[in-house]
Amino acid sequence: MSDGVWAAPGRVNIIGEHTDYNGGYALPIALPHVVRCAGSTTTDGRVRVTSRQHEGERFEVAVDELADAPVSGWVRYPLGVVHEFHRRGHRITGATLDLDGNVPIGAGLSSSAAIECSVAVALRDLFEFPVSDAELIDISRAAENDYVGAPTGSLDQSASILCTADHALLLDFGENGHDQVAFDLAAAGLELLIIDTNTPHALVDGEYAQRREQCESAATALGVRSLREITDIRAVDTLVDPVLRRRARHVVSENARVLAIADALRTGADPRTIGPVLTVAHASLRDDFEVSTAQLDTAVTTALEEGAHGARMVGGGFGGSIVALTERDSTERIADAVEKRFHASGFAAPRWFVAVPSPGARRIS
Ligand code: GLA
Repeated sequence: MSDGVWAAPGRVNIIGEHTDYNGGYALPIALPHVVRCAGSTTTDGRVRVTSRQHEGERFEVAVDELADAPVSGWVRYPLGVVHEFHRRGHRITGATLDLDGNVPIGAGLSSSAAIECSVAVALRDLFEFPVSDAELIDISRAAENDYVGAPTGSLDQSASILCTADHALLLDFGENGHDQVAFDLAAAGLELLIIDTNTPHALVDGEYAQRREQCESAATALGVRSLREITDIRAVDTLVDPVLRRRARHVVSENARVLAIADALRTGADPRTIGPVLTVAHASLRDDFEVSTAQLDTAVTTALEEGAHGARMVGGGFGGSIVALTERDSTERIADAVEKRFHASGFAAPRWFVAVPSPGARRIS
């Protein structure tokens, strides 16, 4: 018997990709898919971790030896969170953490943040740490950056902690602010179709870090602290380096797209109008940020040909999923068409589901 069970969701980002580490904006929703953490406190100074997705593996490490623990793979996500609490002076006397989840892994839907955040909320409650949601997000991000070694921003952890049912979450990474925006596609007869291209991505790989560095170089060349400060897209044209110019053009235009979509949703516009903005965002990620793949492009093109109002890749890129805005009665047909096209192209079989805006991290028992 555990002392309790906590759950944290994966996310799908409606819009705002590669903006988080540029101090920009994003608009994610939480998925119904979660990682659950059954947690208990102990007093022997050791942390024990298991996962239903990795039967037969069982890790046990002393909390004060976590910094140099010779472990690799998925277990670094939960251990990184324990380590980060400990490093910040929150005393963990020992814990047992048993994980189980259904967030698709490597699909660009933040299965890693779901692990981190489920452990983070569990530890906060179990040890009654006086830690705000903002710090919880920061602890989870630090676990990912420093313990796992993936130089991400905090989009995924923010979404997993802060999202609420029936809403998209407008995140402002420059001001550290957020706002819930009502997001009711069902009322308009629409659905958000997620297609996992079944081509796993890995953010620890150099490409993500390289994009981040290029954005920093572009900001420096433009004389600003972060690309968020550039609001006039014409400023980007003054960049001499064509690669930096493309990277900056994506980020600056993407920030404007996030604000445009948030505005449309807030003012009660027909959600169909956001479709073309999603499609433009895909072109920007493909051509300017260069993080798409043949599978992602094929899924987007096919969805659009079959009548989706808009479609784009989601997450960091180099694999993972797309999101398409579809009429409810065409969702299945579009998903089938993508499946057929993938088969004909010799790609791995894709998987699909419909995403509804779901609650963020919480105690469930
Ligand atoms: C990954 C990272 C996030 C964010 C997205 C791209 O999901 O973990 O921090 O940068 O890519 O928007």
